[in-house]
Amino acid sequence: MATPVAGIAPVAGGPFVAGIADAAGGAAGAMVDGFGRRVEYLRISVTDKCNLRCVYCMPEEGLHWLRRDEILSYEEIAEVVRVMAGMGLRRLRLTGGEPLVRKDLARLASLLSAVEGIEDIALSTNAVLLAPVAQILREAGVSRVNISLDSLKPERADEMARRPGTLARALEGLDAALEAGFDPVKINVVLVRGVNDDEVPAFAELARTRPLHVRFIEIMPTESNLDLSADNFLSCDEALAAISAVDELRPVPGPPGNGPATYFAQPGALGTIGAITPMSHNFCDRCNRMRLTADGHLRPCLFGDLQTPLRDALRRGEDLRPLVAETLRIKPERHMLVQGSSVGSGGLVALSQTGG
Ligand code: 5AD
Ligand code: SF4
Repeated sequence: MATPVAGIAPVAGGPFVAGIADAAGGAAGAMVDGFGRRVEYLRISVTDKCNLRCVYCMPEEGLHWLRRDEILSYEEIAEVVRVMAGMGLRRLRLTGGEPLVRKDLARLASLLSAVEGIEDIALSTNAVLLAPVAQILREAGVSRVNISLDSLKPERADEMARRPGTLARALEGLDAALEAGFDPVKINVVLVRGVNDDEVPAFAELARTRPLHVRFIEIMPTESNLDLSADNFLSCDEALAAISAVDELRPVPGPPGNGPATYFAQPGALGTIGAITPMSHNFCDRCNRMRLTADGHLRPCLFGDLQTPLRDALRRGEDLRPLVAETLRIKPERHMLVQGSSVGSGGLVALSQTGG
């Protein structure tokens, strides 16, 4: 796979001097980027592979997968986290691809739980493989889980994921997550007009009757979904309006998390409804994160081609801190996504390549 090296983007470099400042009262520093945003959150892609082929994410034939030796070992991931925790990193999320296709993920969770300074570890999963390992992951220190679920109709869920039996297994995973005590449990629903838009009320009902936080996500363009993301775009505003037409929706603070969602609740509901609006209402000004790809690139933004290779330096035993500081320095002000175009996504074929 091509690995562009970090460079200076035209939009990078804000009025602030990016750097590692002393956190108030804390021993470790704080990572602050060139736009004054504090970066405390790292999304770690543990594999580029996935057991599903969601229509908006991966091409049916899959991607050009990384080789085993290209992927960071669990010990190497933990070392990157240790270095960054010393610079102010506090919270982690394990993603993929599908993180549960990688063997013994609980072992990584245990290694990361032991890193000084790390306060919170979350997991993003399609939940198909979650049921048998939910309890083990919870005990290994994963406290929160986000589940991707785009339809509550069995046939449609299979069609959207291009794999049979998806819904039944994902729902088993969801039940196991609640039982294991993950809190909060969030459900991510990617909106696709003409495909799952008729299920918006059913998802709202799920948030009303169970302690689940259902977040609608606007589809983002990548190389592999240009037509779908343009022709079948549905805004969160429209989805929320469909719910408001039949039930009251009040803005609420929402469950704890690190994300850009805004939340609402129906009267008497056990859960909430969230909106994630990368396309219609840009939220990059609140960005608090960086991403570590499975092959050890540190990315300051989900999109664009900015990334810093850490793996070789790590394997040579070099100090990673200057590389982390440089990635922080080049963190762009915002993504440049444009509907129907792959320009802003920096040639990304699928979000699974950078951890979603
Ligand atoms: N647009 C919007 N959301 C996407 N996801 C994956 N690809 C896309 C896309 N192109 C979602 C997944 C998962 C989350 C991490 O990102 O469904 O819930
Ligand atoms: Fe896999 Fe998630 Fe992409 Fe679906 S959206 S193919 S579950 S990585």
